[in-house]
Amino acid sequence: MCGIIGYCGQKPAVPIIIEALKRLEYRGYDSAGVASLSDGRLLIRKDAGKVDEVIQKHNLASLPGNVAIGHTRWATHGGVTQLNAHPHSDCGGRIAVVHNGIVENNQQLRQELTKLGHKFTSETDSEVIPHLIEDELKSGCSLEQAVLNIAPKLEGSYAFLVMAPDNPAKIVGTRRNNPLIVGINATDYYVSSDALAFSQYTNQVMGLGDNEVVMLTQEGVQFFDPKGNKLAKQVRKLDQSWAESHKGGYQHFMLKEIMEQAQMLGQTACQDGKTFTKIALDILRANQVIITACGTSRYAALVGRYLFSKVGKKFCDVIMASEFGYFADSVDKNTIVIAVSQSGETADIIEGVKAARDNGAQVISIINRPNSILADLSHQVIYLNCGAEIAVAATKTFLSQLAIFYLLSFSMVDAFDEATAKLASLNGEITRVLDWNKSELIKLSQNLKDKNDFYYIARGINFAIASEGALKLKEISYAHAEGMPAGELKHGTLALIEPGTPVVVICPADYTFSETLSNAIEAKSRGAYIIGVSDKESEVYDSWIKLPKVDELLYPMVAVVPLQLLAYYLAVNRGCDPDKPRNLAKSVTVK
Ligand code: M6R
Repeated sequence: MCGIIGYCGQKPAVPIIIEALKRLEYRGYDSAGVASLSDGRLLIRKDAGKVDEVIQKHNLASLPGNVAIGHTRWATHGGVTQLNAHPHSDCGGRIAVVHNGIVENNQQLRQELTKLGHKFTSETDSEVIPHLIEDELKSGCSLEQAVLNIAPKLEGSYAFLVMAPDNPAKIVGTRRNNPLIVGINATDYYVSSDALAFSQYTNQVMGLGDNEVVMLTQEGVQFFDPKGNKLAKQVRKLDQSWAESHKGGYQHFMLKEIMEQAQMLGQTACQDGKTFTKIALDILRANQVIITACGTSRYAALVGRYLFSKVGKKFCDVIMASEFGYFADSVDKNTIVIAVSQSGETADIIEGVKAARDNGAQVISIINRPNSILADLSHQVIYLNCGAEIAVAATKTFLSQLAIFYLLSFSMVDAFDEATAKLASLNGEITRVLDWNKSELIKLSQNLKDKNDFYYIARGINFAIASEGALKLKEISYAHAEGMPAGELKHGTLALIEPGTPVVVICPADYTFSETLSNAIEAKSRGAYIIGVSDKESEVYDSWIKLPKVDELLYPMVAVVPLQLLAYYLAVNRGCDPDKPRNLAKSVTVK
């Protein structure tokens, strides 16, 4: 959940680190910090607050040196304070460490180190790392050897970078179940949780396997296996769409990402038909198919389940990744597990997929971010190809995930080309839905900004869209919002409807229309304020968000877009930052 970055080269390092921290801020934004090496001194500046605030407050740009590391934090162990911000140091202030992940045995290590006389200054799990390294360096070993020696003592998942003035002009890093990627450009060397941090400087990257160690010096990059043997690595080329990290004139990344969805859908739909048909056949042949995912990706999976059943006549189950482990006993070699994850980093998914693999399952992943841990664990990867998504709230990646499920389900009946053509026709519909509704959504968000409870209902394939609309709203506006099948409203939730309670009703003019509208009327009879999301007008709606008429199976893709925009405008009207919602981070790399 945190972002780490290191640079070693000929240029002033800290400006590069600062720029990288801004690009990594989606991974955590409650604290930030930098350490640089200059004239044999280790300079550390860190504080609670957003990256820009910490940069200003501590005049980070003034730090000298050509070797530096940086961190942007999403707190797990210890509150959001200056002392808990990274980099962390040893007793003598001669080592700086930035860490992403959780050291699960940190309490035990802390007690052991304390008994040996180490003094801790923070409440974090991360601080054990510099203290462990301190003891190794005292015994005379090199920084890289110290990292190799201490890594096996750490339980849990981690990626960390370390530097020390006694080992000048050197950054050493390692990882286990958390990402770390190296970038090279002539005599400049970068290492980070995400290539996006340095992708404006280079597209030449090298990955690091679990428990491997990397050392960056001004002369080059050296990799080691866990035993300390040197490793040769292939340089890979990073897709340039990942170099972009600007708002393109929009006020927020979220708005930009909502607005570029139609265009991104075209990129996602550019897939290889033969590969899809083969995957679809494998899915059809499997004894059981389980889709696992979290949050927004899980709602895409629920639409996928519906499509598999309706188009391919293949039943599958969708299991929340955080619960998947509890079902691992029924996963075997005749099971296909489809893991859906924008980031490919979500800890719950990684854990579930590992358990499934151990039981012999085939793993197919649907991922956006390149070079992810999930990709490495999968037998087959389908990429969304919709470019970097920076806002914490997923929008364009959700639409792209729906498109992939659409293509897969049509491939089950040998109709990949038909699906591609239908997706192409959606481009204009999505643009239209945004144009038609923008001013109505702005007005609605102003009228509803003080409401604290919202309900979203729909039936069939659109039920997941009700859930996704509600998730978008709650995560960025901090209003309570629930999505549910329209038929479930009367089984309890109706008790919560009061005069003026907003109920968003997704009721396209399809086979669900009449029943969904009846449920809306039941809510309206109790005083609810009905927001109809439909291609068919009705007097039941107090407010109408107009959809274009599309094929029944494509309604989710046109219906979700105005719901994203409604959540966005509500967040802005409530004074919330939609790109950086409180307590959340884009990549959830802890369980
Ligand atoms: O990267 P993933 O798709 O695995 O992430 C899963 C969820 O954490 C994610 O979808 C989360 O719910 C989003 N913030 C929703 O907007």
